[in-house]
Amino acid sequence: MFQSKIAGLGYYVPKNVYTNNDLTRFMETSDEWIQERTGIKERRYADRIGETTTTMAVEAAKIAIERANTTAEEIDFVVFATLSPDYYFPGCGVLLQREMGMKEIGALDIRNQCSGFVYALSVADQFIKTGMYKNILVVGSEKHSFALDFSTRGRAVSVIFGDGAGAIVLQPTTEAGKGILSTHLHSDGADAEKLAMYYPGASGGIWTENPPTWPNQELGGMLMTPEMLEDGTAFPVMDGQAVFKKAVVKFPEVIGEALSKNDLKTEDIDMLIPHQANLRISQFIQKTLGLSDDKVFNNIQKYGNTTAASVPIALCEAWEQGKIKDGDLVCLAAFGAGFTWGSALIRW
Ligand code: ACO
Repeated sequence: MFQSKIAGLGYYVPKNVYTNNDLTRFMETSDEWIQERTGIKERRYADRIGETTTTMAVEAAKIAIERANTTAEEIDFVVFATLSPDYYFPGCGVLLQREMGMKEIGALDIRNQCSGFVYALSVADQFIKTGMYKNILVVGSEKHSFALDFSTRGRAVSVIFGDGAGAIVLQPTTEAGKGILSTHLHSDGADAEKLAMYYPGASGGIWTENPPTWPNQELGGMLMTPEMLEDGTAFPVMDGQAVFKKAVVKFPEVIGEALSKNDLKTEDIDMLIPHQANLRISQFIQKTLGLSDDKVFNNIQKYGNTTAASVPIALCEAWEQGKIKDGDLVCLAAFGAGFTWGSALIRW
């Protein structure tokens, strides 16, 4: 059985910087409120036209592929995590395959929101371990800015999120004890509607009675209506306090699970890369685990919460800054909508 290792990694963030003060042009908010509650100072938004979840992923993937000393033609599988795909279907995996001129390889889309990258990594790890593939591109990319409510009504959600992409190339290694040691995935759908975007969706979402009659026919018309943009039901919903309470329990739990599976202790962690949900959540986890500042990486201050992209962007930035070295024990951990959560322990 092979073990898989991260052979190359890259990230891309759009050039358009929006500070907290910039957001005050659209909504009633303040730099003080946003920083105090989330730690975020600024975030990036993709160009409204032309720059998409896929195009950002391509930029991150190019860097990861080059650093892995391979080529797009050599990639034999793609796993793409996003909650903000270019199209409702098909997923971004095939768009990436097309844009990068890859062979007719398998392309899998993952819909696990903030823990999407950890889920994607876990899936890719299994394919490497069994020997099925040798060069897997794992991507997390988000263009949140196309679907947020930038009015005062949507401020509790919209100030948190930003756009960006991160990618890694996973390859087999025979170096004993190196690479991905284990991954751990969980879900609890009891609170699925507490962090969600209902549309476009087949459930009817909030329309449990009297569904809209637009376009005035007996069937159909429940996908998205102009009224839903006006009354706000088209936008994501979040019960922030419910998310906070669950996240601060599940993060340490799933990190502990990974450590115990490998007979390791919290003090063995050299670098924890938590999903950049909210700086307060990261600080809470750090305190719970008793880790020092130099062992937890945060960049939410610059990019906001980039959902599936946040872990690979943070991992890549930490590595580029020399904060992850050969032999280090790196822990990735994420929690998000679903709720879903997961961790991965890597010997670099
Ligand atoms: N600017 C100014 N005021 C705001 C804003 C804003 N952007 N957003 C909300 N407010 C107001 C509210 O309207 C409310 O006003 P009121 O008291 O007059 O009614 C007041 O601020 C407090 O609102 P709450 O929603 O109670 O604020 P809370 O203290 O819970 O903070 C927050 C909200 C930051 C979302 C918090 O609940 C939190 O950190 N939750 C964790 C959620 C999270 O991190 N999500 C990330 C995405 S999910 C993930 O990645 C796992």
